[in-house]
Amino acid sequence: MSSESNVDSIGQALAAATAAVATAGDADSLRRIANEYSGKQSALVAIKSSLGAMTDVEARKVAGRAVNAALQTLDAVVAERLVALERAAAGHAAASEAMDLTEHLARRSRGHAHIVTQAWERLEDVFVGMGFKVAEGPEVETDFNNFTALNMPPNHPARSNFDTLFVKYGEPGSTLLRTHTSPVQIRVMQEWDLPIYAVMPGRVFRRDTPDATHMPVFHQIEGLVVDKGITFAHLAGTIEAFTKAFFGSEFTSRLRPSYFPFTEPSAEFDVRSANGKWVELGGCGMVHPNVLQAGGIDPEVYTGFAFGFGIDRMAKERHEVADLRDMYANDLRFVRQF
Ligand code: PHE
Repeated sequence: MSSESNVDSIGQALAAATAAVATAGDADSLRRIANEYSGKQSALVAIKSSLGAMTDVEARKVAGRAVNAALQTLDAVVAERLVALERAAAGHAAASEAMDLTEHLARRSRGHAHIVTQAWERLEDVFVGMGFKVAEGPEVETDFNNFTALNMPPNHPARSNFDTLFVKYGEPGSTLLRTHTSPVQIRVMQEWDLPIYAVMPGRVFRRDTPDATHMPVFHQIEGLVVDKGITFAHLAGTIEAFTKAFFGSEFTSRLRPSYFPFTEPSAEFDVRSANGKWVELGGCGMVHPNVLQAGGIDPEVYTGFAFGFGIDRMAKERHEVADLRDMYANDLRFVRQF
C-alpha cells in the first residue's frame, strides 16, 4: 500500500466520521458513533495497525502522523459535539421549566375581601359614623357571660334555643364557644366608662347542620347603648337611622314584639326597600335590669338598649346568594363574582 493511498483513506475515514458525528442527536448516539469511527473495529485504527507492515520507513512515518492527527481531530470533533448537545439539552430544560410570568402581567388581580368581611367593615363604618365605638370579645367564653349574666341562669329554658358547643376546660359546662355576640355586652359594661355607645362584631358558633340558611359558624354584630334617659324611642330611631345609612334612603325598618331573656321589652326588626319584601334582620330591646346589674351598672340610674343581627345573612341578601354554604366553599368561580 502506498503512503498516498493510506493518506487518502485516512482523509476519507475522517470525513465520514465527522459527517456521522454531526448527525448525533444526543450523548448516547454520539458515544456509539465515536466508537464506530475511532474504536478498535474502526477504519482508522485498522489503517493504523496495518502501518507496521510498511517497509518504506519515511512513508510509514507520514502515514502514522496522518492517522494520529485524524484520530485527534476526531476526538476534538466528538468533544465539541458533546458540549453542543449538552448545551441544547440544558436550554430545553430551562425553557420547559421556566415560569410564565406574562400570565401574572396579563391578570393583575390581587384578590379582595370576602363578602362577609366587606359587610362587617361597612357595618363598622356606618355605626362609627353614627358615633358608636367598636369592641370585640373572645370567641371562647364563660357560661356566665354567654348565659347567666344575660338573665339566663342555669336551667333557664331559653338556653336550649342556643345549640351550644362546649369546650373541655375547667368545670364541665363552664366554658363554651359563644353562641352570640351578646356576652361582649357584659364585658363592655364591666370595663368601659359610662355612657356606652358600642358595636361588637364577631364570629359565633352553634351546633347546627349546614344548610342553605344555617351555618355552625357565622357572624353577628351587637349594639349596646347605656346612658341616662334612654328609651325605646331611641332604639327604634337608631334602627331606622342605621337602615337608611346602610341600605339606602328608600329602605325602612319595623319592629315586631318578641322575646329575649336579656331585653325587656324585646322586638325583632325587619327592613325592606320601597316596594320589596320585609326581611328579618335581628333582635333588639331594652337592656333587662338584671343584665345591667351583672354588668355593674345601676338600673335605677341608667337605662339602655341592645340589638344583634347576623352579618352573613346581610351579605347573602345583598348579593342574592341562594345558599349560605356557597359563601364558605372558597370556590374561586364564586368568590370572583363579588
Ligand atoms: N343575641 C340575640 C341572638 O343571637 C340577638 C339579640 C341581641 C337580641 C341583642 C336582643 C338584643 O339571637
